[in-house]
Amino acid sequence: MIFFEKVVTFLKKAILNFYLSKGVDMNIITILKADHKEVAALLKKLLKSETAQSKESIFSKIYEALNLHARFEEKVFYPAVRKTAKTKDLVLESYVEHDMIKILLADIRKMSIKDELWKAKVTVLQEIIKHHVKEEEQELFPQAKRILDKDQLKDMGEKYLRSKEGKDLK
Ligand SMILES: [Fe+2]
Ligand SMILES: [Fe+2]
Repeated sequence: MIFFEKVVTFLKKAILNFYLSKGVDMNIITILKADHKEVAALLKKLLKSETAQSKESIFSKIYEALNLHARFEEKVFYPAVRKTAKTKDLVLESYVEHDMIKILLADIRKMSIKDELWKAKVTVLQEIIKHHVKEEEQELFPQAKRILDKDQLKDMGEKYLRSKEGKDLK
């Protein structure tokens, strides 16, 4: 298992370096949208899964993906786009929605899968994320494309992918 994880990490790094070396479009908005899709699919899978083991493993993937995603948005992406009255309001709402998402994630992490509230909490988490993603994709991201130029979007994308590889955000 550990060997398998090492191989996966190695392959992920190799793929990232390949894309970076080819100058493939690393637009941060494209990458954040891909994360949104991935988490939505994992949440669906989590609600359908039947064994405790698969629930635990899917939830830990969601937990990790959301923490990385939210951390980057809060530290890098949101500060860079809160430049107008409209984006400032959207960003402030996003911070509050992230807080709600984090509270639910922490609750679910602590609770037993057998708890009768488990499914209700995961369902509400899914609903809040749906709402949050809709606001980001339909309102904030189009504004961000006006505020940031192509190079800034690409630099941010590269920075995010590197931070996913375990390198610190600066
Ligand atoms: Fe997001
Ligand atoms: Fe967000």
